[in-house]
Amino acid sequence: MPTLPGGWALARMSARDLDAVVDIEQRAYSHPWTRGNFENSVKAGHIGLTLRDPAGKLAGYAVLMPVVDEMHLLNITIEPARHRQGLGKLLLAVALATANQHRLPNVLLEVRPSNTAALALYEAAGFETIGRRKGYYPAADGREDALVLRRRWGTEQGTEQDGQQGGPRGASA
Ligand SMILES: CC(C)(COP(=O)(O)OP(=O)(O)OC[C@H]1O[C@@H](n2cnc3c(N)ncnc32)[C@H](O)[C@@H]1OP(=O)(O)O)[C@@H](O)C(=O)NCCC(=O)NCCS
Repeated sequence: MPTLPGGWALARMSARDLDAVVDIEQRAYSHPWTRGNFENSVKAGHIGLTLRDPAGKLAGYAVLMPVVDEMHLLNITIEPARHRQGLGKLLLAVALATANQHRLPNVLLEVRPSNTAALALYEAAGFETIGRRKGYYPAADGREDALVLRRRWGTEQGTEQDGQQGGPRGASA
């Protein structure tokens, strides 16, 4: 796990984190994951990441699921009182680095078209919209579509053009 400056800490999510995770989740979403969703995710071996501040308080978390040759980003959430401080960008970078470490550099996710904050975050990180799932999410007035976004290895600045960094599977991948 990468180390962070100033006493901030990254760790793998465990059952001990779930009270704080569920507390943030309920305040961050109109349709939050349940505690059971997180428990099943941890049990299923999904990769949960937590970000804690220097006082040890949970500031954000992410959940990644390896599927065949891609990594799915199932959840990324920052404590609402800490939005727009760069923490989402940091946690997303850690999630992408984690996918690379697992040799699954192509990352997929779903997002509500109405979630402009998340869309801006993902687009800045090199994600592209590759599809739309009709009525995927529950919404206050029925259902809402999901946009499917993918970030392929090499779409971040500097790697596609010059090929200097290659990918975890080698420069020819
Ligand atoms: C999406 C989320 C993780 C972003 O976290 P954050 O810590 O506030 O984001 P950051 O401060 O790192 O912002 C990074 C970039 O994202 C974009 N962004 C973030 N919030 C934004 C907003 N409200 N409006 C527009 N752009 C936004 C900006 O491009 C921003 O860069 P900038 O600050 O230099 O302009 C956060 O809003 C969140 O937890 N939302 C609720 C949960 C959620 O919707 N998760 C995604 C599910 S798909």
